[in-house]
Amino acid sequence: MDRLDRFRDAHLGLFIHWGPYAIRGFEASWPLVHGDVPFDAYEALADMFDPTCYDPVQWAALAKEAGVRYAVLTTKHHDGYALFDTQLSDYSAPKRAAGRDLVRAYAEAFRAAGIMVGFYFSLCDWHHEDYPVELSPHRPERTRMPHALPPGVPRSIEADPARWDRYIAFMHGQVRELLTNYGQVDLLWFDGQWEHTAEEWRSVELVAMIRELQPDCIVNDRLADPTLGDYATPEQYVPVAAPNRPWETCMTINETWAWNPSDRAYKQAGELVATLAEVTAKGGNFLVNVGPTADGEIPTAFSSRLRVMGDWIARNRDAIFGVAEGVPAGAYYGPSTGNDDALYLFAMGRANGDVLRVRGLDRKVVSATVLDTGQPLEFDQHGGHLERGALRVTLPASLVDPIATVVKLDLAPLA
Ligand code: GLC
Repeated sequence: MDRLDRFRDAHLGLFIHWGPYAIRGFEASWPLVHGDVPFDAYEALADMFDPTCYDPVQWAALAKEAGVRYAVLTTKHHDGYALFDTQLSDYSAPKRAAGRDLVRAYAEAFRAAGIMVGFYFSLCDWHHEDYPVELSPHRPERTRMPHALPPGVPRSIEADPARWDRYIAFMHGQVRELLTNYGQVDLLWFDGQWEHTAEEWRSVELVAMIRELQPDCIVNDRLADPTLGDYATPEQYVPVAAPNRPWETCMTINETWAWNPSDRAYKQAGELVATLAEVTAKGGNFLVNVGPTADGEIPTAFSSRLRVMGDWIARNRDAIFGVAEGVPAGAYYGPSTGNDDALYLFAMGRANGDVLRVRGLDRKVVSATVLDTGQPLEFDQHGGHLERGALRVTLPASLVDPIATVVKLDLAPLA
């Protein structure tokens, strides 16, 4: 399998948003912009963030149980705090209260668990003194940052190109550190690209460096030029039509990326499974997010849901991995996946059972079973080439899986 095929068949990733912001239980970085906290108070969190219970071996074990095949940790969010050891800044875990490199242990633990290792990295850095915090008329509050230019001054790259050069050298240098010091990096997940153009970020050079240092590394599309990067990243939703390139939906379990105890809007495990099914049926991936606490623990609200999802995946893996898209939308009212020999129909909910219908099937159904239990189901298939297969499968209430029932159809060529 080439690197992208392996990524495309992974289908489930774990996104981890973690940093000093977890102490306050508010969103990562954005409180700086929204004025929830003074700049100095935000930055002082780095001198308190010392996650004494951090055990990425446990995180990886949970990820395994959840059925996850790749992970993406925020090595640096927009706030500029690096969880890794960087020679280029003092605003980092080893040089502040944590006193150690938090990325190394993560990379080692996940790699040892057989999970692909991904790094999230923000192109923008609201801490760095050379980063020109953009003065957008829509975001005048951003000028609160001490190193931002006063209102009325245009974008400062033009005003001081040498300063921008220094920033780019720093930012590219940190990416180089990540790609040099942590063994094989399977995926780079960029973000924060919207503040500048690809030309300004020197994204082409950045990708060239990645390809040189780690030729197998997969790169997402947030480099301010959609032609760069390997795959698309719709955020917080599943696109109605699948993008015409590899893609991944990233989504929170509640509504915040970082740990936020006051956000109780948790999705049920069944909703997570439904999202995984829908994304898989459209040939994409699902990057499901958790926000660990400041101590380094993944709260039960997340882990319990991930375990339910993982248990469901373990029982239904044939419908998720090693399969392609199923029948076209509208041929079956729900997600479906399949290969030459089988078609998998996902039925969500349906506590009372149902009759599942498929139109336009150009193969003969040999048997219909509940994938998880192997229970045979009654079905009838009318017509051959002329009616192009009107199929009905009866799913009795007694065989319904409350999370999602997968019906497996064994197929043979039409006689
Ligand atoms: C957005 C947010 C950022 C978050 C990311 C995850 O770009 O700015 O906070 O990390 O989405 O997809």
